Order: sequence, then structure tokens, then C-alpha cells
Amino acid sequence: MKVLITGCNGQVGSCLTERLIAEAEVLALDSKRLDITDREAVFSIVSEFKPNYIINAAAYTAVDRAEQEIELSYAVNRNGPLNLAQVAKEIGAVLLHISTDYVFDGDGGNPYKESDKTGPKSVYGQSKLAGERAIAEACPKYLILRTAWVFGEHGTNFVKTMLRVAESRDELSIVGDQFGGPTYAGDVAGALITMIQHVEQGKDTKWGVYHFSGMPYASWFGFASAIFTAAEQQQVLAKIPTLSSIPTSAYPTPAKRPANSRLDCFKIEKQFGIKPSDWLTALNNIQAYK
Ligand SMILES: NC(=O)c1ccc[n+]([C@@H]2O[C@H](COP(=O)([O-])OP(=O)(O)OC[C@H]3O[C@@H](n4cnc5c(N)ncnc54)[C@H](OP(=O)(O)O)[C@@H]3O)[C@@H](O)[C@H]2O)c1
Repeated sequence: MKVLITGCNGQVGSCLTERLIAEAEVLALDSKRLDITDREAVFSIVSEFKPNYIINAAAYTAVDRAEQEIELSYAVNRNGPLNLAQVAKEIGAVLLHISTDYVFDGDGGNPYKESDKTGPKSVYGQSKLAGERAIAEACPKYLILRTAWVFGEHGTNFVKTMLRVAESRDELSIVGDQFGGPTYAGDVAGALITMIQHVEQGKDTKWGVYHFSGMPYASWFGFASAIFTAAEQQQVLAKIPTLSSIPTSAYPTPAKRPANSRLDCFKIEKQFGIKPSDWLTALNNIQAYK
């Protein structure tokens, strides 16, 4: 089994590379070795390696900056996946791609199913949705995993930010009216690998979009509270800040975010037996995110 991973230095890309190396012939490429917007490079490298599976862990993920860098956001989040989808079709590979809860407007009251209407409010969400659509049109064998609120040992994320700012601040105000499923990057990698194993074993696979995030759902305030509870129990901070919950309106950001970005993860469990990410357990080793 040959697997090509793009964006191998990102949060998910790093976990994927670490885990897959034990079970496959892996070509893991960072943005310097393969820029996914470079169509010629994509076709040349992929055609030479001839992977059975391509996992696209590369993305433009600067949600607020994307409001300014619209062209770059679309280049990486739509054109890049399109290049990968076209080459995957050409060589008969399966394309696994990661997308986001931000494809929804977040105005609904329930967790979002894969079949629910999309309506991204931000350039980032719009460009990611455009990437999903480009893949679906270009490549017959694809699996898109929409996930949310990702944190892990590598890269930048909310857990690391909380632990860092706690060093210099006694009080923190955190948004309490946006709800989602915090998701451990290692579990995203695990879900993608389970999907590959399922295909590899010749089991019936329904190509398409799947939701995968953490349970229990939380607000950012709830997520921060859990982080500091873990930090206190595991004694990784000199002092724990006092938290207060604020509304989104009190913390304006360039990009609008969905108030409800909870993903319904029933379909992936039914099809692949993949359970939601247990993010609270992933905080048991909080030192790893410092
Ligand atoms: N983080 C979240 O909370 C979250 C939530 C929902 C969905 N997702 C999705 O999950 C996936 C993985 O996210 P992540 O958190 O692991 O992202 P990340 O840590 O920001 O990693 C993204 C990687 O993509 C690389 N990259 C950027 N432009 C590239 C290009 N043109 N060609 C090749 N590589 C490029 C970056 O490399 P450089 O650093 O060298 O630019 C970086 O290593 C993404 O599809 C993201 O949209 C993330």
C-alpha cells in the first residue's frame, strides 16, 4: 500500500505521517516539497510515486486572514484539492480530504448532518466548500472528512494558545455562545487510517462526505474550562487564570464563525465503525500541548 500525504507538517499531517509510516510506504510532503497549487508539480510527483491513496492534509487555515487573502485561500483550498482529485482520477487512486464545520452557517439548532444545507459565512468556509465541490466533480473515489476545532501536539491551536496566554494573564474572557466538537488531531488521523483500512479490506465503501468531530460538544468557554481543569490536575501551569464567558458580539473577529458548528457523526460510525473523538481523554496528557 502506497500513501502520499500533503501538508505533512500541519497538525493532522504530522499525526498521519507518524502513524502511517508503520503500515504503508509513505511519501510525506510539506509545502516546500509539494505546493498543491502547482498543478505541474502535483501531476509529476504523484504520477511518479503512483500512490493507492492520496491524503490531502494541506490547507489554508488562517480563518481571519482569509478575509483579506481571498485569492490565496481559494488557490490552496479549492484549486489544490482539484489538482489532487484530477491526478487521483488519472492514476485510479483514492483521495482522502479534510474539510470543516465552517461550511455551515451555524444558524440551525441541531448538529449538522452531511446532507444538511451548507452556507459558509467566511471566505475560509467558502473556499473549503469550493474544494469539496471540485473534488466531487473531478474524482470518483473520494472520502471527505469534515471535522472541527482541531487540536494536537503539532502546529498552532486553541489548547496551545490557552496554555501560553495563561502564563501572562490572570483573567481570560472566552466566547461562550459558539458550540462545536473539539477534536484531537491524532483521532482525525486515526479516522482517515481506519477509512483506508476499510477500503483496503475490500469492504463496501460509499464515497462522499463524512462528519467526524469530538464529543461531548462544548462552547469555547467550556473547552477552555476543561483545558484549565486538566492543567490544574496535571500541575503544568504555575497559576490558573480566572475565566469568564462572553458573547461573540464582545469579541469581534474579521471572519464570522457559526454559532452552532456541532457535527452529527452518526454516518461515519455506521459506515466505518469510527466513534467520535474523545477529546477530554486527549487532554489527559496536557503537557504534550505546551
Ligand atoms: N484546525 C482546525 O481547527 C480545523 C477545523 C476544521 C477543519 N480543519 C481542516 O483540517 C485540515 C488540517 O488542518 P490542520 O489544523 O492540520 O492545518 P495546519 O496545521 O494549518 O496545517 C496545514 C498545512 O498545510 C500546509 N500548506 C499550506 N498551503 C499549502 C500548499 N499550497 N501546498 C502544500 N501545503 C500547504 C501548511 O504548510 P506551511 O505551514 O508550510 O504553509 C501546513 O503544514 C485542513 O483541511 C483544515 O481545513 C481544521
